[in-house]
Amino acid sequence: MSESVIRDVGLAEDGLLKIQWVKNHMPILNEIRRNFEASQPFKGKKVAICLHLEAKTAYLATVIKAGGAEVAVCGSNPLSTQDDVCAGLVSLGVKVFARHGCTPEEYTSFLHKVLDTRPHLIIDDGGDLVHLLHTERKELLPDIIGGAEETTTGILRLKAMEKEGVLAFPMVAVNDGYCKHLFDNRYGTGQSTWDGIMRTTNLTVCGKTVVVAGYGWCGKGIAARAKGLGARVIVTEVNPIHANEALMDGFEVMPMAEAAKRGDIFVTATGCIDVIRGEHFAVMKDGAILANAGHFDVEINKKDLQAMARSRRVARRNIEEFAMADGRRLYLLAEGRLVNIAAADGHPAEIMDLSFALQTLCLDYLLKTRGQLPPKVIPVPREVDRQVASLRLKSLGVEIDTLTPEQEKYLASWRHD
Ligand SMILES: NC(=O)c1ccc[n+]([C@@H]2O[C@H](COP(=O)([O-])OP(=O)(O)OC[C@H]3O[C@@H](n4cnc5c(N)ncnc54)[C@H](O)[C@@H]3O)[C@@H](O)[C@H]2O)c1
Repeated sequence: MSESVIRDVGLAEDGLLKIQWVKNHMPILNEIRRNFEASQPFKGKKVAICLHLEAKTAYLATVIKAGGAEVAVCGSNPLSTQDDVCAGLVSLGVKVFARHGCTPEEYTSFLHKVLDTRPHLIIDDGGDLVHLLHTERKELLPDIIGGAEETTTGILRLKAMEKEGVLAFPMVAVNDGYCKHLFDNRYGTGQSTWDGIMRTTNLTVCGKTVVVAGYGWCGKGIAARAKGLGARVIVTEVNPIHANEALMDGFEVMPMAEAAKRGDIFVTATGCIDVIRGEHFAVMKDGAILANAGHFDVEINKKDLQAMARSRRVARRNIEEFAMADGRRLYLLAEGRLVNIAAADGHPAEIMDLSFALQTLCLDYLLKTRGQLPPKVIPVPREVDRQVASLRLKSLGVEIDTLTPEQEKYLASWRHD
């Protein structure tokens, strides 16, 4: 079996400190780990993980390993991998194939290396592992029991596969679990996107006009936090219902063609291509900052930006300046990749505690229901969502009411007499 491929094993000490820090702030996973250590649900199983490879993911990998699995991990984006965390994870006995800033070819070779371990279960983020398994690595399909998908974009791809009848194994839509998108997409992306933009630019948000493209779960969080930081917020949408939500939350709504003239900072979170493109760059103010929080680097059209620029240069780490022919300068953060992970540390540990608790319990569910689930996109079981939510309340020492028998009877009845 292949050995790890990482930047530098010598970075392990720093990586271990980061992993230890998040572990101290992930009480739900700690509880699941204790249970897994006793019950060994993954004994004899191999698990392949493709996720943004920073400390929270590393801790998740060790929890699954503690449950008896052999674990191999690669990154789900070339810029989100942290080399010290990779080294730390290797020292904890997990196979890692990832390097920060790897080329597209290396990125794909790392996905292959993880699959070379012949996994039984997978965790995917954006659908790249599943895509390879159904194209270049079909010989591995008979071994796969199932998997779990982390993000909105990956689930869209899975649903397209299901519709075409090509999905070969069950994939649990972890993103669509309540304990995922309600907290991770909204509060996680909301906070970490601004963390990424602020630490990268070292500029103020207050007093600026922020344009948020997409008012889904991520966009709601990004807009709410921009408002909290003192920005004027404009939302662009294609969905009339979400546009109304943005209006009622107190934001201006308009097409990107209009918003482009007004914005100081632009953040895309749509999962869609070309949300900001040539016609928009043409009317932007000098100094406009462009950032993406959606899964792929396709939301800000980089080809248009390059074609329109007279020159480009690195203005600061993770900031590229594009000088237009008329003298205006536009600044692209983190190559248009997810700014919260490529230019920061991703979501807070307490948020990923919820998301990754769902991941672990969904893998366990796939094993327990082996052979019973169709090769489709499977919802997170309701009891798993409730279990994760209850574990979080327990870890916080928060108690809630329980229904009395009379209340249960009332809620189950249509007579109300
Ligand atoms: N950065 C992160 O850490 C992080 C976390 C979770 C999800 N994501 C990714 O962020 C993206 C959005 O996720 P989500 O959960 O908010 O999805 P969502 O489906 O809840 O919301 C997307 C919104 O974008 C709107 N939209 C689509 N195309 C548009 C366009 N051309 N212009 C304007 N609005 C448009 C949709 O109508 C929808 O309201 C996905 O790619 C997802 O994978 C990133």
